[in-house]
Amino acid sequence: MKILAIETSCDETAGAVTEGRKVLSQVIYSQILIHKKWGGVVPNLAKRAHEERIDGVIEETLKKAKLTMDHIDYIAVTQGPGLAVALETGMKKARELALRHNKKIIAVNHMEGHLYSAFVQNRNGMPLRKFEFPYLGLLISGGHTEFVLFKNHLDYKIIGEKIDDAAGEALDKAARMLGLGYPGGAVIERLSYEIGNKDNYHFPRPMIRSGDLNFSFSGLKTAIYYFLKKMDDTDKVAHVKELASSFQEAVFDTLLFKTEKAIKQWKVNRLIIGGGVSANMYLRHRMRELIAKHNGYVYFPPYKYLSGDNAAMIGVAAYYKAQKNIFVDVSKPFERKPRLRLGEN
Ligand code: KG4
Ligand code: ZN
Repeated sequence: MKILAIETSCDETAGAVTEGRKVLSQVIYSQILIHKKWGGVVPNLAKRAHEERIDGVIEETLKKAKLTMDHIDYIAVTQGPGLAVALETGMKKARELALRHNKKIIAVNHMEGHLYSAFVQNRNGMPLRKFEFPYLGLLISGGHTEFVLFKNHLDYKIIGEKIDDAAGEALDKAARMLGLGYPGGAVIERLSYEIGNKDNYHFPRPMIRSGDLNFSFSGLKTAIYYFLKKMDDTDKVAHVKELASSFQEAVFDTLLFKTEKAIKQWKVNRLIIGGGVSANMYLRHRMRELIAKHNGYVYFPPYKYLSGDNAAMIGVAAYYKAQKNIFVDVSKPFERKPRLRLGEN
C-alpha cells in the first residue's frame, strides 16, 4: 500500500511517499528563512509560501520515489492542529488530487504523526522497532508540549499538557532575548554544550510542585526577562552561554521531572519522545538516563528530519488508519481543524 502524504500545518511544506512504515521518498521545503526576520511564523507569509511550493514539492516527492500518481493507493494529509491558512493549502491539494486521480483521503492529526515518527523506517525497513503498547509519549515542539498515553494504534489519551507557552516556544523566546535569532532551540543546545551544560543562574523549575502533569513555561520566560533587565549589555554578551545553558537546564529539568512523575503515575516505562525539541542530543542523553533508572527504554525519531515537521510521519500514521478503513468522506466538506486534539475527531 503506497501513500502520498502531505504536511503543511505550520512552516514546512512537506511531501512523502510511504509504504507501511517505510519511507520511499520525502521532501521538506522549510520556510525558516522567510519567517526568521519576524522572529516567528507569520500566517499570511506561510500561506503564500505553501501555495507557491506545494505543486513542486509533490512533484519532487513522486520523482524521488520514481513513481506517478497511478502507483499511489491513498492520499494522506494533516488536518490539524496547526495554522488554519497553512493547513488549508495541503488539504485543498489533497482533495484536488484525490478527485482527479480517484483516490481516497486519509486525514491525520499532526500530533499523531509526531507519535508515529519514532516508528518510521527507511526504505530498507530500519530501524525495526516492534510495537509494545502502551507507551508514554512526550511531544515537545514550538507549538505543543504534551504527555500522551499511546494505548494502541490510533488510541490516545492526553494526560498532561502546556497551559501557556510550549517548551520550544520558551526556548525560542529566550534565544530572542539573548540575541540568538529564530528559531533558537538548536543554537541554545550548541552554546550550552560548549560550556558543559552548566547551570550558573538556576532559573525556576515551573510547576514541579503542581501535582499534575501539566506544564507552564511562561513564568520561566518572565523570570529570564527580568533577570536580563538587571544585567548590563556587556555582561549579557560575556555570559550569553551561561544564560542560554541555565535556561535550557530549567526547561529540561522540568520536562524530566514531569516525565518521571508520569512514568510512576501511569506505570509505563516505555517512552516515545517526538517534536522539534526531541532533536536535542543533551535532552536525549538525560531522558535515556532517566528511563534506565526505571528499567525501560525510550524511542526518539530515528532520523534527523523526523524530529521536526515532515510528511513521512503523516504517511506512516495514515497507514494504520487505512488498515482500519478510516477515510475522509469526500462528499462532505473537508474541514481544517486548527485546534484538533489527540483522542478527539
Ligand atoms: O516540531 P517543530 O519543528 O515545529 C512545530 O510543530 O512547532 O518544532 C520546532 C521547535 C522550535 O521551537 C525549535 O526551537 C525547537 O523545535 N528545536 C529545538 C532543537 N531543534 C529545534 N529545541 C531544542 N534543541 C534542538 N536541537
Ligand atoms: Zn510539529
